[in-house]
Amino acid sequence: MDGSAASVTTTEKISQDLTERYVELLKQVLSFSLWDGRDGAVWRGRKSARLLQRLLEQRNLSVARMISPEVRQNGGDWPRLAHTMVGAKRLDNLQECVEQVLRGQIPGDLIETGVWRGGSCILMRGILAAHGITDRTVWVADSFAGLPEPDPQRYPADAGDRHHTVPELAVSLTEVKENFRRYGLLDDQVRFLPGWFSDTLPGAPIEQLAVMRLDGDMYSSTIEALRALYPKLVEGGFCIIDDYWAVEGCRRAVQDFRTAEGIDVPLIRIDACGAYWRR
Ligand SMILES: C[S@@+](CC[C@H](N)C(=O)[O-])C[C@H]1O[C@@H](n2cnc3c(N)ncnc32)[C@H](O)[C@@H]1O
Repeated sequence: MDGSAASVTTTEKISQDLTERYVELLKQVLSFSLWDGRDGAVWRGRKSARLLQRLLEQRNLSVARMISPEVRQNGGDWPRLAHTMVGAKRLDNLQECVEQVLRGQIPGDLIETGVWRGGSCILMRGILAAHGITDRTVWVADSFAGLPEPDPQRYPADAGDRHHTVPELAVSLTEVKENFRRYGLLDDQVRFLPGWFSDTLPGAPIEQLAVMRLDGDMYSSTIEALRALYPKLVEGGFCIIDDYWAVEGCRRAVQDFRTAEGIDVPLIRIDACGAYWRR
């Protein structure tokens, strides 16, 4: 090996090492894991506690429910500051799925339905950037106004669902775009689909998908995303369900869809919450 070949190999190694370090750091920052779990969780408390909170807010003070680093690691909370509520294992899974389709040259874009502050989509865009991929888009689908009211006539599994009453789940499009911008990742490889999934997903101008990550919590949000997007998932692509083990309605939607479509590839457990399969 001559000197120039050796230096190319060294440069490649450094570049690979930097890619790995960047993606690792990105996951840690997005999930607020560099600060020992000291983020704290969204905490609204009871009526009297909310009054206390309002009084404190007037004095620029706030109350946070502190959680253990393990809870944040497992994504078992609604964090106060982190840009994703997804925990370490599910972020690792997302990275693994995206990098597998890149390595295997499985064609298609990447989407998350249900993005909250945008963290998982920011991770996907960051992975594309780290690998120098310029011909894939990250689709960001959300109402940017929280979850819909349940429609128990149409989706009985959602009866009594209270997610739509939680203001902390409503994060505006402006805020999500600002989060992408802070990481230097807001560009034309990111496309937003604002509105209810039932309105935006069936006609979305997406040609094919390599990774679809569903995180809409409810039966309706999950089945609507599956029906609209699964036909666009290419063979070898990944379907990730964030709430499979955690939310009964979501699990039932996945089971109903898989039964209706005759999908029998095994579901793989990620952690206490998520599952995925490869088409
Ligand atoms: C659990 S949060 C998503 C967490 C996010 N994936 C993360 O990385 O932190 C659920 C999100 O789904 C959105 N959502 C749920 N159902 C929806 C629907 N039917 N249409 C549009 N957005 C929906 C909510 O607005 C909310 O932002």
